[in-house]
Amino acid sequence: MYTKPVTTKEMFAKAYDGGYAIGAFNVNNMEIVQGITEAAKEVNAPLILQVSKGARAYANHTYLIKLVEAAIIETGLPIALHLDHGDSFELCKSCIDGGFTSVMIDASSKPFEENVALTRKVVEYAHDHGVVVEAELGTLAGVEDEVKVSAEDSSYTHPEEVEEFVSKTGCDSLAIAIGTSHGAYKFTPDQCTRNEQGILVPPPLRFDVLEEVSKRLPGFPIVLHGSSSVPQEFVKMINENGGKMPDAVGIPEEQLRKAATLSVCKINIDSDLRLAMTGSIRKFFAEHPEKFDPREYLKPARANIKELVKHKLVDVLGCAGKA
Ligand code: G3H
Ligand code: 13P
Ligand code: ZN
Repeated sequence: MYTKPVTTKEMFAKAYDGGYAIGAFNVNNMEIVQGITEAAKEVNAPLILQVSKGARAYANHTYLIKLVEAAIIETGLPIALHLDHGDSFELCKSCIDGGFTSVMIDASSKPFEENVALTRKVVEYAHDHGVVVEAELGTLAGVEDEVKVSAEDSSYTHPEEVEEFVSKTGCDSLAIAIGTSHGAYKFTPDQCTRNEQGILVPPPLRFDVLEEVSKRLPGFPIVLHGSSSVPQEFVKMINENGGKMPDAVGIPEEQLRKAATLSVCKINIDSDLRLAMTGSIRKFFAEHPEKFDPREYLKPARANIKELVKHKLVDVLGCAGKA
């Protein structure tokens, strides 16, 4: 029974050896924390709850810490509290000083040597305080918090750089770019084909890049950002209830499943939670225009997040029963 957040060290070691991945879900409010952690409790899965700079600005550091602590007390699960896309030493320091057990320093948009220097600085401070660090090499297309990266600028991780980067920085895990991207529009329709139902089928992830990275970093945990699969069930629910999300497309779950059996130990999911929540609330409003009690429309939203997360833990990440 855990009462405080843990680091990801032990979870990643077990995930690497066991051929599964830990789900890293973004949290912004109580219902999201509850939906995710109730699912994990039901299937006994370890978890990473992650907070972006934007989440911290929205909900406040103390509220988020206390919500996560409450979830640990309620579930007794091993849960890491992680800063997602930290963009400066100061932000990472503030989270380390304020009770996070893991931070990401995302200097992937900087030149290699600057990325190394900033990551190294964060690693030194974090390790002195018992906190682990995720770094990033390569650039994902799409929107990363406030950093907008256009599809043309996206570049896969260069495997020949990873050993030098990890040995110079001392980071504990590494996010790489193999074709995932943030948000609900991961590919344009002309980058995809369409199946018989007219649903977009995206190009496959670059497993060759992942394999090359893993060969150079045996036993080292790899992280995938931008790993929402954009469930068409929720896109449809949104579109049928007043929303407008044409051609939203994500990463097929079979590809994430495959990545989880390889060296990928952490898979980041945020957009799918947003789609589940938004779809549920839109449907409730469309069906009950007279209702105005937030508990009534947040309840189905929380329940759908829970079902979605349970499915991810069991069928995609493979981490059910591993807490
Ligand atoms: O990678 C970005 C995450 O989905 C967090 O998004 O910065 O809007 O909270 P946010
Ligand atoms: P998605 O937008 O695919 O959910 O990615 C989330 C993420 O990478 C958070 O860091
Ligand atoms: Zn991300």
